[in-house]
Amino acid sequence: MRADIVLVGFGHVGQRFAELLEEQRRTLDERYDLQPRVLGIATLRHGSVFSLEGIGAAGGVVEEFRRTAAFDSSLRGSPVRTLELIAELRRSEAPLRAVIETTTLDIGSGQPAISHIEAAIDAGCHAITANKGPAAFAYHELRARSERAGVAFLFEGAVMDGVPVFSFVRETLPAVRIIGFRGVVNSTTNYILTAIEEGRDFDAALASMQAEGIAEADASLDVDGWDAAAKTAALANVLLDARLTPRLVDRTGIDAALAPRARAARAEERRLKLVASASRDAGGRVAASVRPIELPADDVLAIVRDQGNVLVLQTDLLGSVAIHQLQGTLTMTAYALLSDLITVRRRLGRYM
Ligand SMILES: NC(=O)c1ccc[n+]([C@@H]2O[C@H](COP(=O)([O-])OP(=O)(O)OC[C@H]3O[C@@H](n4cnc5c(N)ncnc54)[C@H](OP(=O)(O)O)[C@@H]3O)[C@@H](O)[C@H]2O)c1
Repeated sequence: MRADIVLVGFGHVGQRFAELLEEQRRTLDERYDLQPRVLGIATLRHGSVFSLEGIGAAGGVVEEFRRTAAFDSSLRGSPVRTLELIAELRRSEAPLRAVIETTTLDIGSGQPAISHIEAAIDAGCHAITANKGPAAFAYHELRARSERAGVAFLFEGAVMDGVPVFSFVRETLPAVRIIGFRGVVNSTTNYILTAIEEGRDFDAALASMQAEGIAEADASLDVDGWDAAAKTAALANVLLDARLTPRLVDRTGIDAALAPRARAARAEERRLKLVASASRDAGGRVAASVRPIELPADDVLAIVRDQGNVLVLQTDLLGSVAIHQLQGTLTMTAYALLSDLITVRRRLGRYM
């Protein structure tokens, strides 16, 4: 089955996804009868391209984009241009058409990703994103919109990169009710907390996460707890049927002044972790928080070091279930997008 794709955002994650499509071409074909082509790429400042014949047939998508991307400079950066490019995908006659959204997040609004997902759905295309914004700010609206349009809205990469969280619950825990969760869900802050408890420098640890492309473009999103708050809101909206936004999550971040506390905790067989949690109280209200908490060293949240993440789901039928990610890499985030694309292919039939 041919899958025509528009990539909205072509930074670290978008480019790694384009490479992964190429690297996995044979597996996608042989195991899932899936033949993806990239028709369009939209960026904010680096130009955009669209071709009904596909991009990168000779020599790879990333290279061809670098060679050819351009558009009218008066429109450069205009949100309208990106929405127009998404709408172009209507012209494809492929049985599977998908928009892969990997733009930077405005933590105050969830934009521009929400508009991009809406445009994809309205163009009759499946919408897949690694961006936290859509699920953290508009999950219920976008889900209803995608169901009315008969297309998928998937966002596995929004939390814990490619390690299944949303699909794990959706596909493998039928009839189980999630009552609450707690976890370590931000790689950058966990790496920094591991570094400072060992006596290493806060700023140097942050710089190394930025150099690896793991930290957000605006690093304050990580250290001030906004990234974790957005993931908490997304998890709560999807798993607990909450109506949260990141601002409604009670949030405290981390800073260099925590170093003595982190070192003292370690000396006492405890660990300082940025803990994200949410649960539904007796009145039915979902309360969520992100804050540094000292944990006993044998707590499952205390065990994850460096870039590791962990999420413990509290359930009605299975007790507590832990999902553990030992490290976070760009490839894992790109894989999340790929796994969502395969989910869409499976839904379209035969390949279970
Ligand atoms: N990096 C990770 O490990 C990771 C992990 C999980 C989730 N995520 C999420 O994935 C998303 C992308 O992350 P990244 O690291 O790839 O970010 P990035 O390298 O900063 O790339 C963002 C891309 O979005 C483009 N963009 C921004 N606004 C746009 C608009 N209105 N229209 C079209 N393109 C627009 C940028 O254009 P320019 O190239 O012109 O600037 C850039 O190509 C973020 O939401 C992030 O939270 C990232």
